Amino acid sequence: MSSKKIAIIPGDGIGPEVTAAAREILTLAARKAGLDLEYATCLAGGAAIDATGVPLPDDTLAAAKTADAVLLGAVGGPKWDTVAPDIRPEKAILGLRKALGLYANLRPVKVSAALAAYSPLKPEIVTGTDILIVRELTGGIYFGPKCESETADGVERAWDTEIYSVPEVARIVRMACKAAKGRRGRVTSVDKANVLASSRLWRRVASAIAQEEGTELSHMYVDNCAMQLVLGPKTFDVIVTGNLFGDILSDEAAVVAGSIGLLPSASIGDGPGLYEPIHGSAPDIAGQGIANPVGTILSAAMLLRHSLRAEAPAAAVEQAVDAVLAEGYRTADLYRPGLTKVSTEEMGKLIIKQL
Ligand code: NAI
Ligand code: MG
Repeated sequence: MSSKKIAIIPGDGIGPEVTAAAREILTLAARKAGLDLEYATCLAGGAAIDATGVPLPDDTLAAAKTADAVLLGAVGGPKWDTVAPDIRPEKAILGLRKALGLYANLRPVKVSAALAAYSPLKPEIVTGTDILIVRELTGGIYFGPKCESETADGVERAWDTEIYSVPEVARIVRMACKAAKGRRGRVTSVDKANVLASSRLWRRVASAIAQEEGTELSHMYVDNCAMQLVLGPKTFDVIVTGNLFGDILSDEAAVVAGSIGLLPSASIGDGPGLYEPIHGSAPDIAGQGIANPVGTILSAAMLLRHSLRAEAPAAAVEQAVDAVLAEGYRTADLYRPGLTKVSTEEMGKLIIKQL
């Protein structure tokens, strides 16, 4: 058996509950693929502020950098709302993204028949939706030169700058093309090339890379994409886009699936990847054992796929989740009369039994 190191960061609120469930499943699935996982449990976020005074202690950063992958629950909560801006819990995530060079954020959105009833959209529109959003994470307007306030001709103004370079666009589009190869093979590149110069460069580079990769690529304006995501989510395979558009579109796509508790994410770079559910620390339900662990469990599946190159166990975890949901087991967020309500821990155990 070969051994892999996983840094596990439970974080705050429901983070410890959902990561506990996911860890057991990750261990079991990896073992079936001949991988023995060695865990380093680390502090970050509010829990780290309480223990050490900072949201991202050096030990945690060191453990993350030397690990093969990082699994994170969520950070933050009202308890830390009053801390100084430079030590806020969220700084832990930004710090990890930066230190690990995580330039791509992958967010799959899948709607099985069992879950279609929970979508705010009509079941016939969402059933069969299977989208992978690939969002550029370290460039664009969030990181360009900015001015909080200046006065020009007696008028106060502020500004941000969208900058994308050829290598930044090339690497994210290449990642999207490679991801499409294991799927339906189609990439939609989303931009605002009718207005933005940075988008025109994006479009030109995306076309060239897709040609090199032999991937079917189409271009779509972001405003049209926002509309198409609710009109026909099934029509998309892989969506690749910049930081700002990806932030907005990935939240929009997430609601199609019905519960924020279901969806996983991966942040990938050249070093270890960071895997976390898309939800936050859910302080309103923390400590009650009722949180939905599926988003974190599917994040563990992404960890197996992308960081440990263990495709079969990743798919096995995803199938086990689908099977348990199809049998009618639900945590409180998705419960309806006629189905079987289970706790966070019970949901984990059911998925383990399936595996
Ligand atoms: P949230 O995602 O924590 O909660 C939003 C709503 O969804 C709540 O009603 C919550 O109970 C529910 N929910 C979330 N995850 C769930 C799950 N697994 N099962 C069942 N229900 C679930 O977002 P909110 O309330 O805006 O933020 C709470 C805290 O989390 C804040 O401090 C925020 O800064 C932080 N946060 C952290 C993130 C991270 O660690 N990556 C991401 C988003 C928010
Ligand atoms: Mg967002």
